[in-house]
Amino acid sequence: MPQTAVHDAALPVHDGGEVDWARVRADFPLLMREVHGKPLVYFDNANTGQKPLPVIASQDAFYRRQNANVSRAVHALGTEATEAYEGARNKLARFLNVRADELVLCSGTTFAINLVAYSWALPRLKPGDVVLVSRMEHHANIVPWQLVAQRTGATVRVAEILPDGRLDLEALYRAMTPQVKLLAVTHVSNVLGTINPVREICRQARRHGIVTVVDGSQAVPHLKLDVAAIGCDFYAVTGHKMCAPTGTGALWARREHLEAMPPFIGGGEMIKEVSFEGTVFNDPPHKFEAGTPNIAGFVGLGAAVDYLESVGMDNIAAREAELLAHATRALQAIPGLRIFGTAPDKAGVISFLVDGAHAHDLATLLDLEGVAVRSGQHCAHPLLQFFGVAATVRASLAFYNTHEEIERFAAALRKVRQLLC
Ligand code: ALA
Repeated sequence: MPQTAVHDAALPVHDGGEVDWARVRADFPLLMREVHGKPLVYFDNANTGQKPLPVIASQDAFYRRQNANVSRAVHALGTEATEAYEGARNKLARFLNVRADELVLCSGTTFAINLVAYSWALPRLKPGDVVLVSRMEHHANIVPWQLVAQRTGATVRVAEILPDGRLDLEALYRAMTPQVKLLAVTHVSNVLGTINPVREICRQARRHGIVTVVDGSQAVPHLKLDVAAIGCDFYAVTGHKMCAPTGTGALWARREHLEAMPPFIGGGEMIKEVSFEGTVFNDPPHKFEAGTPNIAGFVGLGAAVDYLESVGMDNIAAREAELLAHATRALQAIPGLRIFGTAPDKAGVISFLVDGAHAHDLATLLDLEGVAVRSGQHCAHPLLQFFGVAATVRASLAFYNTHEEIERFAAALRKVRQLLC
């Protein structure tokens, strides 16, 4: 059975022309529900994204008709499952514009960055070496480097940001001293929305012989990506923010790194031959994929890529830019509201506080109005320390959100502000 048969035939398809956004939204059944008796306004997309019908259907179809383990069984189901899994790798590789044999499938960005930390950095770093990280990193792009630094004697150096939430590029380039062996930087900040000029940053790093790791979790759902053109060494993505099931993601790495890196996790799948005298490892990327993977999840990731491509990543980016402009105007009109992160180049994320109100109180009362936003430190404690605040509220948008939802959010925020302030 061909791999496409996994996905039921009559699923919604957007043909890439003028996008009917109401129709796109209708592909996301969860968005139709109510919360606390109010229509849901889901503005926590940077935390996790909602799933369209083809992705949901792909899970059902896989378990009804194709479930088997990959790369092991010669029977028909095993072959189909393997084709579906490898098909997803090929789709994601095309989506990111990288080679499929350079794409390691894994559970998400956290695993991907840890793979670089333990397989690339741990065997190489030594006392005196430096890992450079930006102030705006998610903990997943800080803590693995601290753990490796502790074990190697290397140190972690911080590249600071400017008050508007841009990276201080001059300071970053000055910090690229000969001791720096690796730079870890996010493509898009999950708190500020800042889109970093990663292509230029990686070009500068390369001039200094610094290996670059780019965290693409918040970029891949929102921007048309050409990872090959960025010129980094490693690029990490997560599936659940780009319409795919949780527990899916990938690490892209240059082939020469994958060849040179030892495996991170050992077990089945990642070997060619095992004896008690020693083991011959599989070729990359399989060398890094020990054990049974999240097969259904990756089938869903393939369906998510198809879905995003059918809507068009350029259309998605343009739609989210419009929504961001609208939401920013609406929030700026609220007295006492301060936005954190006002870089000119921003994805659809707005972190804010309202004078006299605690972030968690705002988020809790907004929830009672049907509005889902995240409050807290957003897995980015050092960034919030920079701004001198204990928490913010974060509204994060996706292409399936609407202008009407932004108006409802702003109205709800005015109402809860009056209750709290
Ligand atoms: N889930 C994390 C967030 O909410 C990455 O930003």
